[in-house]
Amino acid sequence: MMKEIQLLKQTLHAVMNNYSTDSNDRYRPTWHLSPVAGLLNDPNGFIQFNGQYHLFYQWNPLACDHSNKFWGHWSSSDLVHWKHEPVALLPTENFDIDGCFSGSAVNDDGQLVLIYTGNVMLGETEADRTAWQCIARQGEDGEFKKQAVIGQLEGYTGHIRDPKVWKENGLWYMVLAAQDLKLQGKVLLLESPDLENWTLKGEIAGSDFKKTGPFGYMWECPDLFRLDGHDVLISCPQGVAPEERRYLSMYQCGYLLGQLDYSTADYPHSAFLELDHGHEFYAPQTTLAEDGRRLLVGWMGVPDQDEFSQPTLEFGWIHMMSCPRELRIKDGLLYQLPVKELQSLRREHQHVTGTADTLPTFKASSAELIISNTGSFEINISNTLWLICDSTGITLTRKSLSSDVNEVRYWDQTVNKLQILLDRSSVEIFVNDGLGTLTSRYFSQDEEPVLKFSGSAALDVDYWTLEAAPLV
Ligand code: FRU
Repeated sequence: MMKEIQLLKQTLHAVMNNYSTDSNDRYRPTWHLSPVAGLLNDPNGFIQFNGQYHLFYQWNPLACDHSNKFWGHWSSSDLVHWKHEPVALLPTENFDIDGCFSGSAVNDDGQLVLIYTGNVMLGETEADRTAWQCIARQGEDGEFKKQAVIGQLEGYTGHIRDPKVWKENGLWYMVLAAQDLKLQGKVLLLESPDLENWTLKGEIAGSDFKKTGPFGYMWECPDLFRLDGHDVLISCPQGVAPEERRYLSMYQCGYLLGQLDYSTADYPHSAFLELDHGHEFYAPQTTLAEDGRRLLVGWMGVPDQDEFSQPTLEFGWIHMMSCPRELRIKDGLLYQLPVKELQSLRREHQHVTGTADTLPTFKASSAELIISNTGSFEINISNTLWLICDSTGITLTRKSLSSDVNEVRYWDQTVNKLQILLDRSSVEIFVNDGLGTLTSRYFSQDEEPVLKFSGSAALDVDYWTLEAAPLV
């Protein structure tokens, strides 16, 4: 209890301190989720429970670094307007003392249950650690009661984390990220009748496993779900070498499509494809909405990737979530589009057509554009981010935060339609009705960022300003 009170006092202090800095902060998103103070990383426990959406998140309220991990908590009835809920998990027990790490949420016969990783450091080095997989059942008073249910697994290092749980044929299943003793990243499948007693069924995918060659030392944040006839496995491999036009972020985020045999843990699957092609997208988590949609939220950040050069540090916070997206699979490929509810934020509308060179300049602070194109053009956002669209695809270039070398990302297919969402320091680009996405942060010097088209393409552009959706 003492530890809990101490952490809560410090959190209150951090939030109080940050309260007044906001008015000068031109990077704070107006309709995306960001932390009131401190560092936000992975979305956790995304669920629709009794009609309400809940999104938990990895939160260090005490500093803009990765040192203390709590579970913050927001809820929403429409995926657009969110409100703060009491902090859900604090690292206070001997099984989670060095962080309540990522995990998921389920509805266990009317009770909300969080499943997370308790991180415990055993020594000074990163490798010297162990992990507990824990559950936290919500009581009538709204509080979550914690319990460790899985300890260190034999045959793996202490890097075991990020349980994602779902129910199938009356049993609970979990995918879990783990590192084997040869330091290869693996995704494990476990089974339980009651969320407390778990049996390891086996490895379902990973580096140096079945048809996959060496592909990273850790596959963080796995998520497995059924969609359009496929069992989709999303994961975030770390330690994959960059290639000329792919795997360009510090760590990767991608998906496999296959068919999972629940009894044998056999999961024949397709090759790894990147889930996003922008500069910042990691650790996404999905949930099944009550209306049957598979929804996803991602972290607009990547661990160890220039994080501490981001200018929001000056304002006492760092990182944000992506917008909620709906997933579909068509012709063996994953599509992502912003959820339809976000259209309710659209305000002033302009429809313009013509050669890119002749189009007006648009305010880019908080806006949405839908662009149909024939030919090549460029979009320049306040001389900080450049999108070049030509016959080879998209080149997205961003000014680096820490050096003079621009950072480039690619999407290599013919483009005929773009949907672009802007929110002060973020851009989310959906290509060809969601077949490709590019998600990036950018930090312009301009008080009011602007978007300029150029080039010879014939364009048809719908533009809206977007209303703010403040957290309450
Ligand atoms: C991914 C991650 C997870 C871990 C969490 C800790 O960003 O490293 O693997 O659970 O962040 O905050």
